[in-house]
Amino acid sequence: MKNPLKDSLSVSLGAAAMLAPVPAVLLSCKGTEENAKPNLITIAWTGTVCSHPPMVSVSIRPDRFSHALVEKSGCFCLNLVSWEMCRAADFCGVRSGREMDKFLETGLHPLYFNGFPAPVVAEAPAALLCRVKQRIPLGSHDLFLAEIEDVRVSPALMDEEGKLQISRANLVAYAHGEYYPLRNHPVGFFGYSVAREDVLEKRMGKSAGKERQEQKPKENKERRRRG
Ligand SMILES: Cc1cc2nc3c(=O)[nH]c(=O)nc-3n(C[C@H](O)[C@H](O)[C@H](O)COP(=O)(O)O)c2cc1C
Repeated sequence: MKNPLKDSLSVSLGAAAMLAPVPAVLLSCKGTEENAKPNLITIAWTGTVCSHPPMVSVSIRPDRFSHALVEKSGCFCLNLVSWEMCRAADFCGVRSGREMDKFLETGLHPLYFNGFPAPVVAEAPAALLCRVKQRIPLGSHDLFLAEIEDVRVSPALMDEEGKLQISRANLVAYAHGEYYPLRNHPVGFFGYSVAREDVLEKRMGKSAGKERQEQKPKENKERRRRG
């Protein structure tokens, strides 16, 4: 019998930073000099690294203008990128704050909260206010580990019951050099693979049960029997 898994993952691309999709976020920061202007840098090498305390990591090349701003000020904001902001985010990833004021060029607005030194982007659906705890040189990039002090979200993302509806943010994901819009209707939620039918239907609508069934590995029972 022909082995259907014979060609699985048979192509090697070698060692590469290929994790995908990842978020592409807009990091806003500001120098410590008296009349320092705020800057924006697009960052894809970022992630949540701890829940308690809530922490993120961002990796920045030392030659980026923003690197010194983050290092000296010890803080930054991570602004989530909506479809509407995607072009501005790409621009901030190919132009340097050494040469221009990227807030002015993109038409985005810096907004300061409660004396926090770095501004958020007023147009972003959500922003994480972060304070640097550690910098770890890794090679091409320095990894900054930072604690999240506050999360600000647009009131447009909150429903009548005060719950955050992230699907309203029209977020984009980044995969292998391209930006992708996230579908407005999620394909699942945390734990949906094992959720009761009534919970699934309440959260995802009537067709969700059928879709989940279609995603089920078909051979599992047979394989378990074989051991
Ligand atoms: C989608 C995208 C993701 C990027 N991710 C990173 C990153 O994770 N780390 C980094 O150092 N540069 C990254 N860059 C490059 C910087 O954003 C770019 O060099 C920027 O112009 C630096 O701005 P600055 O000199 O004002 O700091 C990315 C660029 C794009 C377009």
